[in-house]
Amino acid sequence: MKIGIIVYSKTGNTLSVAEKLGKTLTEAGHDAVIQRVKVNKDEKGSSGKLSLTANPDVSNYDAVVFAAPVHALSLASAMKLYLNQVKDLSDKKVYGFVTQHFMGGSCAIRKLKSLCQEKGADLKTTGIVNWAKRKRENQIEQIITKFSSI
Ligand SMILES: Cc1cc2nc3c(=O)[nH]c(=O)nc-3n(C[C@H](O)[C@H](O)[C@H](O)COP(=O)(O)O)c2cc1C
Repeated sequence: MKIGIIVYSKTGNTLSVAEKLGKTLTEAGHDAVIQRVKVNKDEKGSSGKLSLTANPDVSNYDAVVFAAPVHALSLASAMKLYLNQVKDLSDKKVYGFVTQHFMGGSCAIRKLKSLCQEKGADLKTTGIVNWAKRKRENQIEQIITKFSSI
């Protein structure tokens, strides 16, 4: 299956989980590709309104995993902005996870679900990684196991 792992990651945590997931899916025989969502605000000297500087096209994937951090107790604005302009997800299997430091993950997942629903996709398989907790590695393993059934 052709799988797109669409990641927004400001400091690298979410990206590192996406890379582990990508490796596992590739080893399972899938064609898994990581694509980064990027925004102007993460670049030095940027100013003005938040805008996308890397905007991955998902149209050719059979399945898509969306991954982003929790910012301000919700889904990172960069991922909201990205998903708002995605055209259609109705023909795809859709999965998603977020990473957080302490709280806001459930709210972020609800937002991710509603944004996917607006594009015609039912996001059922989700995960949250608490970066600060000792059980972080277990949570990452659980997400990888769960999502490997793609
Ligand atoms: C601007 C900003 C806001 C954040 N807000 C929250 C928050 O509300 N709740 C939380 O648990 N973590 C928060 N964090 C921490 C990140 O969600 C956490 O470190 C995450 O793993 C970072 O992922 P990344 O390295 O892929 O960017 C925030 C981080 C940043 C930079």
